[in-house]
Amino acid sequence: MPSVEANRQLWGAAYGWPEEGDEWSAPWGGRRTQWYTSILPRLHPFLPARRVLEIAPGFGRWSSFLIPACESYVGVDLAETAVEACRKRFADATHASFHVTDGRSLDVVDDGAIDLAFSYDSLVHVEEDVIGSYLGELSRKLAPEGVAFLHHSNLAGCPPAGRPARLALRLGNAVRRQRTVGWDWWRGATMDAARFAQLADDAGLACIAQERVNWMGSRLIDCISAVAQPGSRWDRPNAVVSNPHFMADAASARCVARVWGTLADVSSPEPASEGAVRRFGPFSLGLAERSIGAWSVSVLGPWPRRKRGRRAPQ
Ligand SMILES: C[S@@+](CC[C@H](N)C(=O)[O-])C[C@H]1O[C@@H](n2cnc3c(N)ncnc32)[C@H](O)[C@@H]1O
Repeated sequence: MPSVEANRQLWGAAYGWPEEGDEWSAPWGGRRTQWYTSILPRLHPFLPARRVLEIAPGFGRWSSFLIPACESYVGVDLAETAVEACRKRFADATHASFHVTDGRSLDVVDDGAIDLAFSYDSLVHVEEDVIGSYLGELSRKLAPEGVAFLHHSNLAGCPPAGRPARLALRLGNAVRRQRTVGWDWWRGATMDAARFAQLADDAGLACIAQERVNWMGSRLIDCISAVAQPGSRWDRPNAVVSNPHFMADAASARCVARVWGTLADVSSPEPASEGAVRRFGPFSLGLAERSIGAWSVSVLGPWPRRKRGRRAPQ
């Protein structure tokens, strides 16, 4: 159950940010390929946007793409270190500003002033109280035709990791004498797609799109949702899908990056980030940190296999 305080402690103090967050793009072959092959295919209907808000940008992995795509950009993050890093990194972008938030509110933004709110690979680590709070804020901050694109946890809608996987993890931890983040990847345990749609409705927003996706394995522990103002041009009955091929796409993206990524911008190539994904720095090593999900899902299919007749992940 990651709390706001636990998030502040982890990202603001314990985590080392070795590659400014790019280390998490390794399964996609780098930040740029992840953006173009995984995020943009979902986000493109909403870009370019005039006024962008990013919730929890960290050290600016996605801000680097959002800032050039808008006229004004605001980033809010819980961690002071992250805000400082972004201010430094994007010092030349005079239309961008970064602020420390309390982890729940969006006071720095005027009401009705946001055309696109975005958050990716951050709110997966928060619980329903935080999601509910941000959705309440967004109902006021979004412009009449504004939209929010939010990546959050779907853990509450998933069965627990299979017994063999849990045993293997425990064994690996014992052998290596290390703590790992485990098969749940520190996801919010109280959130899933249905809860998100309900919270959006409670906040007076229309949930218009939800894609439940697998993350570093076969379980659909994440969800990417979009919400809009009711009656806006985006408003429609919610479209919900379960996509178990998300990490297989990452495996493909990684091949793309090896050949084409290096040509994308010869003046500033992506740092090579091969091998294991190290998620939580000092206490993060181990089995669950290996990027086995992508190829195991694409090559072997969902693993561990479930007995026939058992409920599939939502
Ligand atoms: C895993 S990092 C991801 C950062 C960035 N989105 C990326 O993908 O590189 C998580 C970030 O979310 C921020 N965060 C966590 N909970 C938050 C909350 N309730 N409000 C704002 N920021 C939060 C952390 O401070 C951290 O910078």
